Amino acid sequence: MSRILTITTLISLLTITVLTTPATSSTDSFVFGGCSQLKYTPGSPYESNVNLLLTSLVSSAAFTTYNNFTIKSPTPQDTLYGLFQCRGDLSNGDCASCVARAVSQLGTLCPDSSGGALQLEGCFVKYDNTTFLGVEDKTEVLHKCGPLIGFDSDELNRRDVVLGYLGTSDGSYKPFRVGGSGDVSSVAQCVQDLSASECQDCLSEAIGRLKTVCGPAVWGDLYLAKCYVRFSKAGAPSNGGNGNDNNGNDEVEKTLAILIGLIAAVALLVVFLSFLRKVCERERGCK
Ligand SMILES: *[C@@H]1O[C@H](CO)[C@@H](O)[C@H](O)[C@H]1NC(C)=O
Ligand SMILES: *[C@@H]1O[C@H](CO)[C@@H](O)[C@H](O)[C@H]1NC(C)=O
Repeated sequence: MSRILTITTLISLLTITVLTTPATSSTDSFVFGGCSQLKYTPGSPYESNVNLLLTSLVSSAAFTTYNNFTIKSPTPQDTLYGLFQCRGDLSNGDCASCVARAVSQLGTLCPDSSGGALQLEGCFVKYDNTTFLGVEDKTEVLHKCGPLIGFDSDELNRRDVVLGYLGTSDGSYKPFRVGGSGDVSSVAQCVQDLSASECQDCLSEAIGRLKTVCGPAVWGDLYLAKCYVRFSKAGAPSNGGNGNDNNGNDEVEKTLAILIGLIAAVALLVVFLSFLRKVCERERGCK
């Protein structure tokens, strides 16, 4: 019996793993990253300031979806600025784990770089020794469009209405926006160091460019330096921060599902055999 119990425990553990995998992978998928060309000297005060800054970002992300830090230094070129921005619908826990992952990926992507920025599906992290806090920046960082067979003209109108709604302002500060109609859904996010009007301006710009570059694609993402806009049609193939990543996860999930099926089958067999044996022993003392 204890063996069966162990197998049952194993199955539930694996099931939990599979059930939690998609959620974390969708907020943690890599979208883009970049590093400053300048390097700091390892072991320098600059390095300890970078570490202090990144640690502060990670611990702060457990309490809020946005924060900025300035690490002052007697030498101006060693003064560091940094921020993180989580997508507005993330829980504190998801925000914290997303920022932790982004910071660790930044470390791998930008070793000894004086500055760097990294966007995962669920959060954005940036640090540098030049001030960018509160500075509007509409530089396009990335756009990606799905297959161009997505919408008939009715649907395209609906898509444009959804994006239009996302881009309207009632004057209040809305750094995170979601919109949808029928099978079209969309999401927008500003980095919250922008003022309400700068955020509005950034999103209008992003929406205009997104419509132009992706046209009638089934999904589209457009990232400017301080805001992004994304839309997708339900059931559209592979709209993710990184299509390949998602496919990879799908494969892992399939493999795990097969594995679980096998383990369950073995467990059932064990139960069945021990049942048979009991029946056997009771009826006519087998062996
Ligand atoms: C930023 O840091 C790098 C590396 O230490 C340095 O070369 C550069 O001059 C600094 N930039 C500013 C604006 O201080
Ligand atoms: C940076 O953070 C401070 C303290 O949380 C806040 O008062 C300030 O408005 C923030 N600055 C920007 C540009 O977001």
